[in-house]
Amino acid sequence: MIIEKLSVDGFKNLRDVSFEPCGGINVVYGENAQGKTNLVEAVWILSGVKSFRGTKERDMIRFDGDFASISASIRDSQRPQELEIKLSGNPRERRIFLNGVRQRALSGLFGALKCVVFTPEDLELTKGSPDVRRSFIDLCISQIRPSYQVTFGKYENVLIQRNALLKNIASGISQPSDLDVWDLQMAKMGAYITVLKCQYTQKLDSFSKKIYSEISNNSEQMSLKYISTVYPEPESRSDWQGEMIEEYLEVLRNNRAEDIRLGFTGAGIHRDEIEVRIGGRIAKDFGSQGQNRSAAISMKLGQAYILAEEVGDMPVILLDDVLSELDSSRRDYIVNRLRGAQIFITSCERIEKMEGKKFRMKAGRLSTDSDEGV
Ligand SMILES: Nc1ncnc2c1ncn2[C@@H]1O[C@H](COP(=O)(O)OP(=O)(O)OP(=O)(O)O)[C@@H](O)[C@H]1O
Ligand SMILES: [Mg+2]
Repeated sequence: MIIEKLSVDGFKNLRDVSFEPCGGINVVYGENAQGKTNLVEAVWILSGVKSFRGTKERDMIRFDGDFASISASIRDSQRPQELEIKLSGNPRERRIFLNGVRQRALSGLFGALKCVVFTPEDLELTKGSPDVRRSFIDLCISQIRPSYQVTFGKYENVLIQRNALLKNIASGISQPSDLDVWDLQMAKMGAYITVLKCQYTQKLDSFSKKIYSEISNNSEQMSLKYISTVYPEPESRSDWQGEMIEEYLEVLRNNRAEDIRLGFTGAGIHRDEIEVRIGGRIAKDFGSQGQNRSAAISMKLGQAYILAEEVGDMPVILLDDVLSELDSSRRDYIVNRLRGAQIFITSCERIEKMEGKKFRMKAGRLSTDSDEGV
C-alpha cells in the first residue's frame, strides 16, 4: 500500500505541505522542532486511529490558525482511494471524506490507509504498563478486522455499566442479582475477545521471535505470552461460543463479593496481560535498554508482517526518530527487512547513505531535496 500524494496545511505548524512520496524510502530531515513528527502524525491520523502522541482534535489546528487539513491519494493492490480531513475550531464543521463520502468522525477513515508507526516511545511496549500492550494488540487486531473495534467498544461500555452497578449495590441502591444480565454480556464478548487476542499474540510471538533473534544475532530469545485473568490456559481454547462463556461467568460470580467491595470488575480481558520475556526473563524487570528496544521493534515489525499476510498489502511504515538511536547494523537490518514497503523516515540528519527520496522540513514547510537519490 502506498501514499501517492499527500497534502497537509494548518495541521500544527505545517504549512502548504504537498508532495508525492516515492514507493520506497522517503527521508524527511531537518532540525529539531521543524515539524517532522507533525508530518508523521498527520499521516497516522489519516489512518483513522487516535494520535500516537495523544493529541486532541482541537490541538491539531495551528495555534494562530482556524483550520487544519490533511488529504491523501492512496493505492493498494485493490484500488485507489481518496482520504480527506478538514478540521476547524467547531467540531460540527469538521469535514471528513472517504472516497467522497462524508464520515461523521475520524474513525470513519479507519481501515483504508494501514500504517505501522515506530517511535522512541515504543519502548513502552515492553517497559510500560500492561495497558500499553493491551491497546497495542487491540489496534493490531482491528487493523486486520475492523469489526473488532465495535465488539471491543461494546465490551468497554458493558464494563463501565457493570462497575457503576457494583457501586450502586455497595450503597444499597441495587441488588446483586441485577449483575446477571451484565455478566452474561461480558462473558460472551470476553470469551470471544480472549480467543482473538490470544491467537494474535501467538502469531506475533512467532514473528517477533524470529526477528528478535536476527536483530540480536541469536544471542537470546524473546517470547510473548497471553496471560488471561479468566482462563488458566487460554492458548488451548477456541470454543468461545461454548464452555468458555460458562467459565467466564463462573469467574465473575466467584469474584462478585470482592468486586462489590472494590467497586470494579477485577477479572476479565481488561485486566489480561501480554507478557514479554527476553532470555526467559520478564523484559520490563530484567531487560536492558537495548534488549527492550529490540523487543519492541520486533513486535512492531511483526505487526507489519502479520498485517501484510492477512490483508495482502504491506502497510505504510512510519519511522519517527527511531533509526538515530540504533547502531548502523540494526538500522540496515530494519530498512532491509522492510524492503518493498513505502517508508517515511524522520531524522535530524540527511542520512546520506539512504536510498530513496529526501525532503527537508523547515519551519513547517517541506521542500524536495534537489539531490534526490533515485
Ligand atoms: N497546534 C500547533 N500549532 C502550531 N505549532 C504547533 C502546534 N502543535 C505543536 N506545534 C509545534 O510544532 C513544532 C514542531 O514539532 P515536531 O514535533 O513535529 O518537531 P520535529 O521536527 O519532529 O522535532 P524533533 O527533531 O525535535 O523531534 C514544535 O515546535 C511545536 O511547538
Ligand atoms: Mg520529532
